[in-house]
Amino acid sequence: MASSSSSQDLLEAQAHVWNHIFSYINSMALRSAVELRIPDAIHNHGKPITLSQLAEALCINDEKSNGLYRLMRILVHSKFFDKVNISGQEEREEAYSLTRASRLLIRDDPSSLAPFALSQTDPAYIDPFHHMSEWFRDECPSAFFTKNGMDLWQFAGKDEKLNQGFNEAMAADARFVSRILVRECKHVFEGLETMVDVAGGTGEVSKALAGAFSWLKCVVLDLPHVVAGMEGSENVRFVGGDMFDFIPPADAVFLKWILHDWGDEDCIKILRKCKEAIADSKIKGKKVIIVDMVVDEEKQAHEATETQLLIDMLMMAHHPGKERTEKEWAKLFAAAAFNNYKIIPTLGVRSIIEVFP
Ligand SMILES: C[S@@+](CC[C@H](N)C(=O)[O-])C[C@H]1O[C@@H](n2cnc3c(N)ncnc32)[C@H](O)[C@@H]1O
Repeated sequence: MASSSSSQDLLEAQAHVWNHIFSYINSMALRSAVELRIPDAIHNHGKPITLSQLAEALCINDEKSNGLYRLMRILVHSKFFDKVNISGQEEREEAYSLTRASRLLIRDDPSSLAPFALSQTDPAYIDPFHHMSEWFRDECPSAFFTKNGMDLWQFAGKDEKLNQGFNEAMAADARFVSRILVRECKHVFEGLETMVDVAGGTGEVSKALAGAFSWLKCVVLDLPHVVAGMEGSENVRFVGGDMFDFIPPADAVFLKWILHDWGDEDCIKILRKCKEAIADSKIKGKKVIIVDMVVDEEKQAHEATETQLLIDMLMMAHHPGKERTEKEWAKLFAAAAFNNYKIIPTLGVRSIIEVFP
């Protein structure tokens, strides 16, 4: 009982509660930094930047420079920037430099995560969380549905701004992941001649893989409003359609960040369609290649598990989806009549899972 706890225990508990009440401000501070293009300003400066130089580069209102100092203070605390001492005109001055994390948020970098950060902190994606307790008692498949009366894919089909922001966010993540796939995972794609990138969005992974691995031809399948106007090339073709109806035949089916959007029954339907798509392939290593999380609360570091659990909540709020443990994945593969699978944990909090018929 609170009344029998020591004052120290009570205050520590209060600090914990406060930290969690206000931790959304970390996301918002990060959003402001990306909107203001702070990482770009520091990058363009070419060396650590002082507060006044940063304020000038960002055209900050003179009266808000203390606000900028406080924004930078929390972002230094959350390891997005480093504070270093430099020699100024008369004395040592403090200046800010980029960290590994903020380097990923420079907007001009082709594998920048800035579009992902902006999209995922947009009110459209945060609002459903205000409907989560309502969703627990209603019949809707997700809190997004409770809020909007339709699922995210239907919403994106009607709202061009959301569609564009979402596709840019996914494309940013796909370009980032492709860098690692090309560098570290060539063996996964060797021996394949054709691959269908199911629900592949704007096709960034296919473009990168077909560009790096000359033997590979890809088809990107996604909903018509996503692939409308997409230009293909010799090695990458776009097809508009519904993965629940038909998946074009290939040696391999690639599913990046798809199955976590769906509940078990729908995943089994998708996986069965994937099995049909590779059924006629004559190659020995035909397979389904999944990029998704494998939750393992015991083996992973605290921050990695927290990230997985946060994204699991996101899947619950935005979709009827979830992040799965190995046991849950194995159950899906067996239910869709696959024989075998192999987890390759090379993508940070995500893994590659090869699934064999
Ligand atoms: C989380 S995004 C992943 C996009 C891409 N694979 C990536 O990781 O960058 C999910 C994708 O599924 C697509 N999608 C949703 N329902 C679909 C369906 N029934 N058939 C085909 N694609 C679908 C969405 O349009 C969206 O592009």
